[in-house]
Amino acid sequence: MAETKATLSLPDKGSVDFPIKKGSEGFDVIDISQLGSHGYFTFDPGFLATASCESKITYIDGGQGILLHRGYPIADLAEKSSYLEVCYLLLHQELPTQKQYDEFLTDIKTHTLVNEQVVNFFNGFRRDAHPMAIMCGVVGALSSFYHDAMDVSQEKDRLLAALRLISKVPTLAAMSYKYSVGLPFIYPRNDLSYAGNFLNMMFAVPAEDYKINPVIEKAMDRIFILHADHEQNASTSTVRLAGSSGANPFACIAAGIASLWGPAHGGANEACLTMLEEIGSVDRIPEFIKRSKDKNDPFRLMGFGHRVYKNFDPRATVMRETCHEVLKELKIKDPLLDVAMELEQIALKDSYFVEKKLYPNVDFYSGIIMKAIGIPTSMFTVIFALSRTVGWVAHWKEMLEQPGHKIGRPRQLYTGYSKRDYQPIKKR
Ligand code: CMC
Repeated sequence: MAETKATLSLPDKGSVDFPIKKGSEGFDVIDISQLGSHGYFTFDPGFLATASCESKITYIDGGQGILLHRGYPIADLAEKSSYLEVCYLLLHQELPTQKQYDEFLTDIKTHTLVNEQVVNFFNGFRRDAHPMAIMCGVVGALSSFYHDAMDVSQEKDRLLAALRLISKVPTLAAMSYKYSVGLPFIYPRNDLSYAGNFLNMMFAVPAEDYKINPVIEKAMDRIFILHADHEQNASTSTVRLAGSSGANPFACIAAGIASLWGPAHGGANEACLTMLEEIGSVDRIPEFIKRSKDKNDPFRLMGFGHRVYKNFDPRATVMRETCHEVLKELKIKDPLLDVAMELEQIALKDSYFVEKKLYPNVDFYSGIIMKAIGIPTSMFTVIFALSRTVGWVAHWKEMLEQPGHKIGRPRQLYTGYSKRDYQPIKKR
C-alpha cells in the first residue's frame, strides 16, 4: 500500500511531505515532528487539533458519543464490571482471569494504609482548607515516603507505584474529608469492597458503625468506573508532561490533581451543584439560561458542554439512570433534582444549546447522586480525582514504557519585545 502523506507548501521552502499515521479508530494524524528542521513550528494553543501522544488505552468518538476503554464500551463496563476490574483493564490491557483478579485484589488490599506520619501533614492544614488543596499536598507528600526506593525505569517499581496510588488515594480522600469536619480518621477495612471501604472511611465514626447500603455502594462504584479514564484531557496531559521528565509518580499525580481542580475540568461537578442551589427553583431557570447565552456575562451552565463530546456524553446516560436509582432507594425528593431535570429538558430543546451541541455531561448527574449519598460538595472533585488516579497512572506507565519516549517540551509563538537595552531605574 502506498504510504499516505500530507504535503505542505512552505514559503521559501517549497513543498514538504509529512507521513500520515493511521490510528486503529478515529482521526489519522499528520506526523509533523520533523517540521522544525524546515524552520517552522505548528501553532495550536489548547490542542484543538493536536495529538500529543500515541495511546492504546481509551478511545473517544465525541461526534457519536462513544467511549471505549481498551475496546470495551463504557456502558458495558458500568453495567457488567467493577471499578477494580476496570483498573486492571486500564493498567494491563486485558480483563483479568479470576486468578489474576484475586491477585490484583490482594495487591490493592496490601497497600490501603498510609504511613502514620502522614497524619502530621494533615495537622498542618487549616481546618477549613478545601479537600482538593489538602489532596494536592498529601498525595505529593507520598513521594517523600517512596522516593529513594523508586526507580521509574524499572517495570516492577512502576507497577508498585500504580498499586500504591490506587490503594492509598481513597484513604487520603476520606482523611481529607474527616479532617475538614473535625472528625477522627477511620482506618481502611480490607474485608469491604473498594467502594464500601471508601464509604466506610467517609461515614463511620468510632462511636458508631456505618451500615453500607448496597444500592449506594453500587452507585459509588459506578461513579468510580465512569470517571476512571478519559484519554488526553488536561489533568492526564499534565501527569504525562510532569512524568516525562522522570519525576516521582506521586508528585506527578499531585500535578494531575491540581489540574483537575479547575471548574472547566473536574471542578465542574461542584460548580454544577452550586449553580443548581443558586437557581433554587424551576421558575428561575429561564433567567439563568438567558445569562448563559449572554456573551457579556461570564456565566456558563455548569455540567453542560464538552470539548470532545458533541453528542450525548455516554457516561451521562449511565449516570442519569444511576441518579434515579439512588434517589428512589433513598426516597429523596430533592427540589434540586426538579431544577436539574427541568434544566436538562430546556437545554436539550433550546436552539442555542442544540446548535452548539451542548449536552449534559457526566458532572451534571454525578453531583446530584453524591449530594443524595450525603457527600459534601467540596468532596465531589476529590472523588473524581480518586477515580481518575488509575487513568493517570495507566497513561504515566504507558508513556514511560514507549520506546524512545522524550521529555515533553512544547514550543511557542513569541510575540514579546525584541532585544532592547537595559535602562537604569532613574531613567525609566
Ligand atoms: N453554557 C453556555 N454556553 C456554553 C457552554 C455552557 N456550559 N459551554 C460552551 N458554551 C458556548 C461557548 O460560549 C461558545 O460559544 P461561541 O461559539 O458563541 O463563542 C461555544 O459554546 C463553544 O464553547 P467553547 O468554550 O469554545 O468550548 P470548549 O470545548 O473550549 O469548552 C467546556 C468545553 C467543557 C470547557 C465548556 O463547554 C464549559 O465551560 N462547560 C461548563 C463546565 C463543565 O461542565 N465542564 C465539565 C466538562 S466534563 C468533565 C471533564 O471531562 O473534565
